[in-house]
Amino acid sequence: MKRILITGATSGIGLQLAKDYAADGWQVFGCGRRTEALADIANLTAFSFDVTDKQALQTAADTIADASLDMVLLNAGTCEYQQIDQFDGDSFARVINTNLIAVGYCLQFLLPKLKPGAQLALTGSAVVHLPFSQAEAYGASKAAIHYLAQSLQRDLHSKNISVSEIQPGFVDTPLTARNQFAMPWLMTVEQASQRIRAGIANRKAVIAFPWPLLLLLKLVSWLPLRWQLKLLATQPTGEL
Ligand SMILES: NC(=O)c1ccc[n+]([C@@H]2O[C@H](COP(=O)([O-])OP(=O)(O)OC[C@H]3O[C@@H](n4cnc5c(N)ncnc54)[C@H](OP(=O)(O)O)[C@@H]3O)[C@@H](O)[C@H]2O)c1
Repeated sequence: MKRILITGATSGIGLQLAKDYAADGWQVFGCGRRTEALADIANLTAFSFDVTDKQALQTAADTIADASLDMVLLNAGTCEYQQIDQFDGDSFARVINTNLIAVGYCLQFLLPKLKPGAQLALTGSAVVHLPFSQAEAYGASKAAIHYLAQSLQRDLHSKNISVSEIQPGFVDTPLTARNQFAMPWLMTVEQASQRIRAGIANRKAVIAFPWPLLLLLKLVSWLPLRWQLKLLATQPTGEL
């Protein structure tokens, strides 16, 4: 039985991945602070901890034998938007701590758990292709994940561990339910899980979807900045 550890497995994309991998016969270690949603999933062991709590993370990781996992999928994440007239440094720190600093803790304690030939996946975002309004913290954290994944690809290559960076577009989850702006090509968690699992099965370095959104983001990013700013100003909510 293959063994996968997923952070952020208690909701949204991670919960669907946990269900789908368990249904495919994997032994799943599902992590999150609120693990009730994982209670009825067969082949799943739930770990309840906050990823920003280094000690709690280490305690959970210590229960897993070294070199025993086939995959670690670091998916836990959060989003808080900034109001530029009242930039909130604490909010910025919360997002960076959860989406980036905690990933460093996860790497510290979970990389030794990977078997030779195993896989590591990091959930980034399609937002790295075009800076979004009010997404200073979220976008910065995901841009850092983009770089981190590429560095890890180089350093883990010699250990025969492949690294995938997942760049979802808009997926219908509790996280995006809070968004006040239009989300083109919004996907279901089932669709997102299918794309992610297919990409991981093929050991793709980047798993980005859906392509029409990626194309739009890239095309807009290639426009001169003054055109991008004009376009942004025409958006009804101030969001792109
Ligand atoms: N939905 C989208 O459109 C979209 C697009 C691009 C990228 N993403 C990324 O995909 C990932 C999953 O997002 P989602 O949309 O599925 O969001 P979600 O439904 O809100 O799920 C977020 C998951 O992260 C966990 N989490 C958050 N903060 C945590 C913390 N401090 N400690 C432990 N676990 C924590 C949550 O678990 P608990 O609350 O139980 O702790 C939950 O399982 C995130 O990295 C997000 O940035 C999402």
